[in-house]
This record gives sequence, C-alpha cells and structure tokens, in this order.
Amino acid sequence: MTTALIILGAGMGTRMNSDLPKVLHHIAGAPMLVHAMKAGASLEPERTIIVAGHGADKVAAAALAWDPDVTTVLQTEQLGTAHAVAQAKPALEGFAGDALVLYGDTPFIQPETLEAMAAARANHDVVVLGFEADDPGRYGRLVTKGETLERIVEFKDATDEERTITLCNSGVIMANASTLFDLIDAVGNDNASAEYYLTDIIGIARAQGLTATVVSCDETETLGVNSRAELAGAEAQFQARARATALDDGITLSDPDTVYFAHDTVIGRDTIIEPNVVFGPGVTIESATTIRAFSHLEGCHVSRGSVIGPYARLRPGAELAENTKVGNFVEIKNAQIEAGAKVNHLSYIGDATIGEKANIGAGTITCNYDGVFKHHTTIGAGAFIGSNTMLVAPVSVGNHAMTGSGSVITDDVPDGALGIGRARQATKAGFAIKLFNILRARKAKQTKGH
Ligand code: UD1
Ligand code: CA
Repeated sequence: MTTALIILGAGMGTRMNSDLPKVLHHIAGAPMLVHAMKAGASLEPERTIIVAGHGADKVAAAALAWDPDVTTVLQTEQLGTAHAVAQAKPALEGFAGDALVLYGDTPFIQPETLEAMAAARANHDVVVLGFEADDPGRYGRLVTKGETLERIVEFKDATDEERTITLCNSGVIMANASTLFDLIDAVGNDNASAEYYLTDIIGIARAQGLTATVVSCDETETLGVNSRAELAGAEAQFQARARATALDDGITLSDPDTVYFAHDTVIGRDTIIEPNVVFGPGVTIESATTIRAFSHLEGCHVSRGSVIGPYARLRPGAELAENTKVGNFVEIKNAQIEAGAKVNHLSYIGDATIGEKANIGAGTITCNYDGVFKHHTTIGAGAFIGSNTMLVAPVSVGNHAMTGSGSVITDDVPDGALGIGRARQATKAGFAIKLFNILRARKAKQTKGH
C-alpha cells in the first residue's frame, strides 16, 4: 500500500517562549520536525505534506533541506487538528493510498510502531496509535469495545467516568486518504474548545459502519514537546537510547552519560569513546577507532584505526583515512588527511590535503582565508612540516619535503626540498647581562620613589 505522510506543525508552541516555530527546535542536532519525517520515512511514503502555520517559511525551508520532495501547506488559522489535516487535501489530489498523520512535535515514534499500524490497516478502516499512560493527564481517551475503537473523547469534553480511562490518544492516525478527508468533512466544532477535532473522525467512522482499532506503543514513543523543559527531557531520552544502542553495537563508552550523539551518528564496532565527547550531525566513525576525551566532531568521517583527541575538533568536511592521528587542540575543517598522517598538537588544518604518513608539527596553521576567498593547501606524502609553520594558501609542499620550524611558507616547496622562510638569528655576546642590569637599576629607582 502506498502511503502519504501528513505532519502537523502549525501550532504556535507558546510555551516554548521562542521566536522559532516549535517544530524547528532541535533534538540531537536535528529539528523535531525532521525526527518526525525520519520516523515516517520507514513507511517509504510516496508524498510528504507538512502543515505549517506560525513561521511557515522557516518550517518549509527546514523540511526541504532534509527532503527536497516534501510539500508544505499553510494553515493560516489554527482551528484544530481536523482542520489542519484538511489543509493537506489539495496536495494529495489524485492520491489513492493511505494517509498517516503524525505530529511535528512528537519526535520519537519508532518505525516498528508505524509498521504495526500499516499491518493493522489490512483489517480495519482507521487505525489509531494509543498508549497506556502512567498519568493520563489531559490526553484524549480511547473508548474501546474489545478490539474495536468506538470513539475518542478529548479530556475537556470527557465525563468523570471517561477520564478514568488510561488508554490515551497519541494523535497518530492512519486511514485511506480519501476516507480520511471524507470523514473530516463531517467534523464540526461543537465542543469545549470550539475546535475541529481530528479525534471526532472515529465516532463518525463507526456510525458509518467503518471499523477502527488501536495499535499500542510505549509511552516514551509518544512523548510530545511543549516547553523548553520538555525539550530538555526529550534530548535526555534520545541520548539515553543512543548510548544504550551504542553499547549494544559493540562500542566502548567509558562514561556513557557524558557522551552526546546526533540523530544520524554512525559508529563502527570496537571503537572506544572516552568521556565528554560530543557528536554533531553528519559523523561516521569506522571500526576500531579511539575518540579520546573532550573531543567535538561534526560532519566528518574517521576511518579504521585512527586516534582522535583528547581535545580535538573535527569540523565539516574533515575526511580522515585509516590510522591517522589527530591530537590535542587540533582543529580540522574541509581537509583530507591520508592514511597514517599525524597532526598531533595545537594545529589548524583547513581546506587542505595532507599526504600519507605526513607529519604536521605542533602549532602548524594553514592560513586558508584572505578575508574574502578560501584557498587550498596541499602537503605531500611523507612530508615533515616543522613546528609553528604558517602555510599561506594557496600553497603546496611536495612529497617527502620539509619546512623549517617557524617558517611562513608563501611559495611552493617542491618534492624532497626544504623550505625555510624566517628571519635569521643574531646573537650578541654578553648583551643579556647588560640589559638585565639596566632594567633592575630602573626598578630599584622606582621602588625608592614610592
Ligand atoms: C491532541 C489530540 C489528543 C491527543 C494529543 C496527544 C485532538 C483534538 N486531540 O491534543 O487526543 O491525546 O494530541 O498529544 O486532536 N496543530 C495544527 N493545527 C491546529 C491544531 C494543532 O497544526 O489547528 C498541530 C499542533 O502544532 C501539534 C498537533 O497538531 O503538533 C497537536 O495539536 P495540539 O493542540 O497540541 O493537540 P492536543 O490538545 O495536545
Ligand atoms: Ca499537544
């Protein structure tokens, strides 16, 4: 069955106290909206429609950045969840498959759960995702009879007896798209909130002789974010799961609670991650690498057997081949580090290619930016860059070439050559003693004057 995703994200999110639309707040380096899109992607949707309202331009841009095929539709007034879904109807013109409604502020629905809903659709016209709540609070309540879901009652409209029900509505609903829109057409707003409730479609469907059922999931999956505190809670939940998964995947975390993953971090088996390591988005670490304490990595690829840190920073475009070493207080950006190369101390390598087994001395800087343009530095295989070399790009140092410590290299150094660019040293015998005597005499005079 082909599926279309409808993701609701028009709500203002007042309690976030933010200029940013709620669904664009990040969890694990990605907007909440993207987490919802990723969850829905497990059903390989043919179309994805985002319903946006507050900050719709920004929401549309974020959605497109993740998936260029999504359509964003505008809900100018937030008249309720049924009204929100109805806004997707024109964008689904001619679509004959199933529609799955997700919320953009409910980021943790698992693929297996959506697959179970799709499976349940084989026997039921409408499938609702429910959960047993520890504290059912203000959630909508699912009124069931055996397997059948009879209706959903919103907390505000529920009787005392209905409020004792602990099986709650997550908001996730699946039905044939045209059935869904037909049911929504019949929804009114005669209720405690004067809103068009999507939840009303269940009672309407049952009255028409259609069938409805509940698929249940764990409450942790349906966690919604309405405030900064809940955002922090969601981040903590994401991290807890990511750490547990990493340990199961054969990765050593010596202090798991201090390691932070992104939504898309990929790490190979037998990698060791020391405490206080942070992964931003877009990181792939191959097997058997070591990421030492206090390192920060994003948008980079680290190959087998490499050792990173402590206190290393790998930025977007850092591409490290096998058995490389990147040491303390080293920053690498948009640079290819070939196999066995070492950048061990206090260096900045940006917009560069570092050849196999090259050794980059302490304090080396690629001066890649002239204030307007970025320029490339190329270091050959087996090259030896002396400590505190400034490589003024564009510049290249050949294979098995060297630079003298403290050099400012502005001209290319050919293969096998030594490049030195620094002032010559002058040594003046006895001069230090003479100078000390002058300075000490000056200090004694000043102290006496006070
Ligand atoms: C909704 C459900 C409730 C369920 C709960 C789960 C309804 C009527 N109620 O209640 O049964 O237990 O979610 O969290 O559906 N939105 C729009 N446009 C609108 C209204 C809402 O896009 O006009 C979006 C919001 O941005 C949000 C989602 O829909 O992402 C849910 O809306 P919200 O107002 O939070 O619904 P609840 O009252 O929590
Ligand atoms: Ca809500």
